[in-house]
Amino acid sequence: MKFFLDTANLDEIRKAAVLGLADGVTTNPTLISREGNVDFKQHIAEICKIVSGPVSAEVTSPVKDDMLREGREYVKIAPNVVIKCPLTVDGLEATRILNDEGIKVNVTLCFSAAQAICAAKAGASFISPFLGRLDDIGDNGLRLLEEIIEIYDNYGWKTEVLAASLRSPIHVIEAARLGSDIATMPYKVLEQLLKHPLTDKGQDQFLADWNKRAAKA
Ligand code: G3P
Repeated sequence: MKFFLDTANLDEIRKAAVLGLADGVTTNPTLISREGNVDFKQHIAEICKIVSGPVSAEVTSPVKDDMLREGREYVKIAPNVVIKCPLTVDGLEATRILNDEGIKVNVTLCFSAAQAICAAKAGASFISPFLGRLDDIGDNGLRLLEEIIEIYDNYGWKTEVLAASLRSPIHVIEAARLGSDIATMPYKVLEQLLKHPLTDKGQDQFLADWNKRAAKA
């Protein structure tokens, strides 16, 4: 399973890249706005300098023709830019056209298997089911992920399943167990994945014992 960072923060992306844990990056308008008043295209270009894998740049217009204009512009930023379109009627129309032009699209804001089927048929390169936001309303994000993987496997569809809106290591582990192609996660979740209190305790003990031995010598 590929690891994507769900952030627009350059320091976080650099830290994950150093660990070899940034196979790609997903951004959205909220994540970009958290970085302050940055120039969108320049910021995406900076991310693409750090990460060679897919970097999602989301369109911000609700209208198909404007989405197409944005998509065709953003794809020129770097060869690894993927255009992110929402799972709306306009978004899927734009997805179909961009895909026909050879531009990869990550279809975002997916909350049902029916939507995921439509996105694959429209030519999405990636589908992003939002697990955490479904859990937030008392639904089951992992069950949706399982359904999408099963349906895509039934037909050998090439759309990659990108588990998104992940809130905890459990989401990441279960996504891997289900065979998700990609998990995109905030840097905080990536850090949580690495940590275990017994690792820290064990390491402290090893170093303390080693230093005692060195003191005796
Ligand atoms: O990138 C989209 C998605 O991962 C957003 O997650 O935490 O805002 O629901 P969240």
